Amino acid sequence: MAFDTKAFRDALGCFPTGIAVMTAGSAETSHIGITVNSFASVSMDPPLVLWSIDRRSRRYPYFAEAPGFTVSILASGHKAVSARLAGQGEHSLDGIALVPTDLGPPGLADSLAIFECARESVQEAGDHAILIGRVLKFSRNDGAGAPLVYFRGRYGALAQGEPPEGLPGRRATDGD
Ligand SMILES: Cc1cc2nc3c(=O)[nH]c(=O)nc-3n(C[C@H](O)[C@H](O)[C@H](O)COP(=O)(O)O)c2cc1C
Repeated sequence: MAFDTKAFRDALGCFPTGIAVMTAGSAETSHIGITVNSFASVSMDPPLVLWSIDRRSRRYPYFAEAPGFTVSILASGHKAVSARLAGQGEHSLDGIALVPTDLGPPGLADSLAIFECARESVQEAGDHAILIGRVLKFSRNDGAGAPLVYFRGRYGALAQGEPPEGLPGRRATDGD
């Protein structure tokens, strides 16, 4: 029986994720970006993160060869930017509000967090490649508001729930 790729993709979409924009490039070659939801943490020591990129993407050679990349975790107000950098061939950052970083590729302004990464490894995995980055610098912007969420092929919002049972957590009513 043939594997139903469309049904597989739809089932994977039941896993809610955030959205990140990966940027790479240098002052000589203009910077590019791509919208992804495959971002994940890997290791605390050393600090490693990963994401995967479709090897058929026009952006693949660029990211696979770049010495590093910057991860911007998008806020709910970034929906239009996310949609734009997910467009076919739409990798240019022209007109997008950016913030400079120490290592090179800029981050997106008003992101929830930014991770500046050196490329640790690129591993082929089927039609994608897994890019692992070593986090050299990071920053958090708790004033950026709610995250942009992706679920079942649509953008959504996070419903703030209870902390997991047995784990310490804070409620909105907790004092400082
Ligand atoms: C919510 C969302 C998440 C995505 N996540 C990934 C991803 O993790 N990896 C990837 O290679 N492409 C991902 N894409 C697709 C790219 O953003 C983009 O559409 C694709 O690279 C366009 O093809 P091109 O690079 O050949 O122009 C995602 C798209 C959307 C809308």
